[in-house]
Amino acid sequence: MLGEVLNYAQSHFDAEETYMKKIGYPDLDEHIKQHKKLSHVLSAYKSDFNNNKINLFAFKNFLFVWVKDHIMDEDIKIGRYIKDSEKHLD
Ligand SMILES: [Fe+2]
Repeated sequence: MLGEVLNYAQSHFDAEETYMKKIGYPDLDEHIKQHKKLSHVLSAYKSDFNNNKINLFAFKNFLFVWVKDHIMDEDIKIGRYIKDSEKHLD
């Protein structure tokens, strides 16, 4: 399951970064930094898992925080930027 989470996260990050570049998203660099940070933490959890050292409670909390803080705050900003851009085209 951890491998699937990692693969999903990486493909999500790649697709999102490609899209942000395409639309000229102004906070692209900062968003990419956050993705890299999240990827690093996920890789560390995978390594811990492979070494039988993973703290599942901490991993669960990390996933919750990722969903709450990154997806619900940062990724939503991309949607807002698109909406605002469309308003300016009217
Ligand atoms: Fe993102």
